[in-house]
Amino acid sequence: MNTVLITGANRGLGYEFVKQYSQKGFNVIACCRNIIEAKDLKELLENSNNIRIYELDVGDIKKIKNLSLELQDKKIDVLINNAGIYRSSTVGNINYDEWIESFRINTIAPYQIVENFLDQIINSDLKKVISITSKMGSIDDNTSGGSYIYRSSKTALNSMMRSLTHDLKNQGIATLTLHPGWVRTDMGGPGGWIDSFESVQGMIKQIDKLTLKNSGNYLDYAGKSINW
Ligand SMILES: NC(=O)c1ccc[n+]([C@@H]2O[C@H](COP(=O)([O-])OP(=O)(O)OC[C@H]3O[C@@H](n4cnc5c(N)ncnc54)[C@H](OP(=O)(O)O)[C@@H]3O)[C@@H](O)[C@H]2O)c1
Repeated sequence: MNTVLITGANRGLGYEFVKQYSQKGFNVIACCRNIIEAKDLKELLENSNNIRIYELDVGDIKKIKNLSLELQDKKIDVLINNAGIYRSSTVGNINYDEWIESFRINTIAPYQIVENFLDQIINSDLKKVISITSKMGSIDDNTSGGSYIYRSSKTALNSMMRSLTHDLKNQGIATLTLHPGWVRTDMGGPGGWIDSFESVQGMIKQIDKLTLKNSGNYLDYAGKSINW
């Protein structure tokens, strides 16, 4: 049986990933910041025997290292860096602490998670590393400006993933950088074009198709390529 690790698994897209991968028969390592408050996730756990919940604040490197140690004997076939934050920013109205925090959560944490779980990924069968980015991280697609904090943190995430694609290829690891679409979650808001189910169903299809040969793509949930 294959295993998937998902960060930010208590709500939004992360929660939907847990649901759909569990239904697909994967062992699911569902990571969330606060287990006590993860009510929906715990409810899901009651009706399935292939989900385990672990506490992980991705902004805390000590917690990443401790969890990796706790899971050192596990194989991780698919690692999904999903946890992310959006902090609004316009010219003249930027909170620099929030900018640093966004880089920590959206850019640096995904790298640290891959680095610290590398052995478990290498020991697995599928060897896939996924990061949930945004089309807002595309420099090519930025025709409207604004969102300095979020855009730059996701552009840097994309760049980090591009380097990982090259650096991990020799170890048989494939990478995919995915835009979920504009989704009706807490982050996406009620005006989003699609719901979590459709987004995650599409993203899992793209992850299923990922091989070493097509590694390194930047795609949306429907498989459409996005210019960097
Ligand atoms: N929704 C969209 O339209 C959209 C579009 C493009 C990209 N994305 C990306 O898709 C991903 C998921 O977004 P979403 O829409 O599901 O957002 P969401 O509903 O706001 O959920 C965000 C998730 O990230 C977790 N998280 C935030 N900071 C964390 C930390 N320090 N440690 C651990 N977990 C943390 C949250 O946990 P808590 O509950 O503890 O805060 C929550 O589980 C993000 O990377 C986002 O940038 C979303």
